[in-house]
Amino acid sequence: MRRATPKGPSVLAQKLLKRLPRRQQDLVKTATILGERQGVAVYLVGGPVRDLALGSASTDLDLTVAGDALAYAKALAAQLGARVTIHRKFGTATLVLQDGLRLDVATARRESYAHPAALPDVSPGTIGEDLFRRDFTINAMAVRLGPQGGKLLDPSGGLKDLERGLLRALHEGSYRDDPTRIFRGARYAARYRLRFSRRDRRLIRSVLAEKVLKRLSKDRLFHELKLVLGEPKPEAVLLILRKLGVLSSLDPALEPGPSTNAQMRRIRRAWERYNHLGIPPEPRLWRLYLLVLLLSVTPRIRHRVGGHLGMKGPPLDVLVMELKELPRLQEKLNQKQLRASRLRQLLDPASGELRLLVWAIGGGRVRKRVDRYLTRLASVRPALTGQDLKRLGFPPGPTYRRILDLLLEGRLEGRLRSRDDEINLVQQRFGRRYRM
Ligand code: CTP
Repeated sequence: MRRATPKGPSVLAQKLLKRLPRRQQDLVKTATILGERQGVAVYLVGGPVRDLALGSASTDLDLTVAGDALAYAKALAAQLGARVTIHRKFGTATLVLQDGLRLDVATARRESYAHPAALPDVSPGTIGEDLFRRDFTINAMAVRLGPQGGKLLDPSGGLKDLERGLLRALHEGSYRDDPTRIFRGARYAARYRLRFSRRDRRLIRSVLAEKVLKRLSKDRLFHELKLVLGEPKPEAVLLILRKLGVLSSLDPALEPGPSTNAQMRRIRRAWERYNHLGIPPEPRLWRLYLLVLLLSVTPRIRHRVGGHLGMKGPPLDVLVMELKELPRLQEKLNQKQLRASRLRQLLDPASGELRLLVWAIGGGRVRKRVDRYLTRLASVRPALTGQDLKRLGFPPGPTYRRILDLLLEGRLEGRLRSRDDEINLVQQRFGRRYRM
């Protein structure tokens, strides 16, 4: 992080805002002038301020307004020519600019929790309350936008914590109120190379001992897990969660070790290498990581562990089935002789994720074959289509499938090289009149 020497809040704010790319600086200027004109206090808050303090600029901007945020958001959208979506119930609005840039506008609010892990009750509040309701000191900073470049509000010492590399929740009850913050913290820790303070580790231990995680709904838990798997290096986040005892408290069998870490890195490489080819169905990285994670436990308990990670219903059933399928697929792909058409038969029905998983864990021969499939064979098609067969005089019916399969096989094996080759074969084998 860039060091912030002790300076006044106005100087600091100016320094931070100057790190924004030109385009965002202009937006902030427009937002500032509109706030002045409407007589409402407007703040740049949370993630963007944290990222600016770390020396990088997030692409999206979060604004908080102490006052009528929705009226302000509509006026701002009109001025910027942006599309605006209002969420009246939450007092928030999202602006999407013509170039795709997003700007969130929220009403400053306070929050309270009826019981641990409940969703918060929300009511309008001051900026001080809005900062205090947040998860970590590093996210509880704001820049009050003003004509002279604004003023930094950092009531909990977020800047200093960033310098010291510390993650600190704002108050002792924070993780109990909202245990998803443990996952959020682990993401920040891995992403920005921070560590939880000693007090925070103690607080998390006691929340885990009270089994507060069990009170989270499956949907909320799974949402957090997907965010973890959406980080640039999820294996680093999982390691932190493991060390904190979070994974074992979700399920005692969940102990991803070095080999799972290595597989995650490998699967990421596979994804980076093949995803751009656009072979359908396109593999989703989070689902790949999930498969790797479930691969780390014995087959018998995969369903249970998946459930403890917040999964349920057919998506979980399919995931478990795919892993069951994996050793068989691996074995078939490892046969000495494997014709191109057989390779297609084996990998066409597999999900985008299963194809890459078998690449990542398979030996050299398996990997070569999956590579051949993805880079060449998957996109091979016969030149003739059903329409052509119709024009050739074939009455539509189940024979179409047989003919097209035969053509595909001929293409894959290199026996058919042109449209004419295909027409000849169809005429020979199916003996109909050629009327094209
Ligand atoms: N927040 C919180 N508790 C949560 C979720 C969010 O306190 N369970 C607060 C945080 O202070 C956060 C802000 O709401 O800064 C916005 O949430 P989000 O967009 O998820 O956070 P970012 O920090 O912008 O996250 P990221 O960088 O991962 O996009």
